[in-house]
Amino acid sequence: MDQNHLISAKGLSRADIEAVLDRAGEVAADPAAAAGRHEGSLLGLLFFEPSTRTKMSFAAAVKRMGGDIVDMGPVDSSSVKKGESLADTVRVVEGYADALVMRHPSEGSARMASEFVDVPLINAGDGAGQHPSQTLLDLYTIRESAGLDDLTIGIMGDLKYGRTVHSLAYALTNFDTRQHFISPESLKLPRNVRYDLHEAGSEVKEHTDLGATLPSLDVLYVTRIQRERFPDESEYRQVAGEYQIDTDTLADASEDLRVMHPLPRVDEIGHGVDETDHARYFQQAHNGVPVRMALLDLMLGGD
Ligand code: NCD
Repeated sequence: MDQNHLISAKGLSRADIEAVLDRAGEVAADPAAAAGRHEGSLLGLLFFEPSTRTKMSFAAAVKRMGGDIVDMGPVDSSSVKKGESLADTVRVVEGYADALVMRHPSEGSARMASEFVDVPLINAGDGAGQHPSQTLLDLYTIRESAGLDDLTIGIMGDLKYGRTVHSLAYALTNFDTRQHFISPESLKLPRNVRYDLHEAGSEVKEHTDLGATLPSLDVLYVTRIQRERFPDESEYRQVAGEYQIDTDTLADASEDLRVMHPLPRVDEIGHGVDETDHARYFQQAHNGVPVRMALLDLMLGGD
């Protein structure tokens, strides 16, 4: 990890990833052993965009280890409203906390902020850029159910603006995986991400239709169309409602297919799928706590 910050999945090695996943496995097997490990540690939460899972699971993670949070709270009631710069905000808040978790609508903001602080900073989403801690819990979920080598994964939906997709795709280049990207033409992977995946020697295929690929998949990772990132609402409406799955769609899938989603879902996965053995997305969200406990433990200086 770069200078003890976690900004992008691009720089993560297989060893970095396995260190977190292995520690998360230990935490999940014996949560009591982690209680009190970070007594008195404070985690600073800076969320400039909405969050349920990421924010709450980081808070749960630090509290389960005996620490606590200091939370900037909603942007509207912070000094950001008075015109404070991001650099000034993080320089101040690093004095209040042992590590920072930040989500911000601008791509590149986490890297910029990390240059102003000495405490570890975790990027919890920078616009359409990256969301690496989500990737760690995604990988943990894949590893526990399908294994990470000899894996065929389909990643479907908004591949252009979906930061969880960008992070996951980079991280998977460390493993023996075949990645299929399924999206409308207008929401394909950004060119730079596609280039990097090819450079990393990854087997990458792009499709506009799930049909022919579905039977070969071990994992189908479904994503929400990122409405808030569209410059124009009419462009969003053109693609909204495409790329949905339900129990009928999954008739052609392997019976071992795992369906994942970083959540929140809007209408991408029919509720009937929840009752099937394919559904892994709620377990995936729950895995956020042990994985973020492991990550914080390593970043705050676990032994
Ligand atoms: C994702 C995000 O914020 O990028 N949510 C999450 O952290 N689980 C996915 C999304 O908002 O679609």
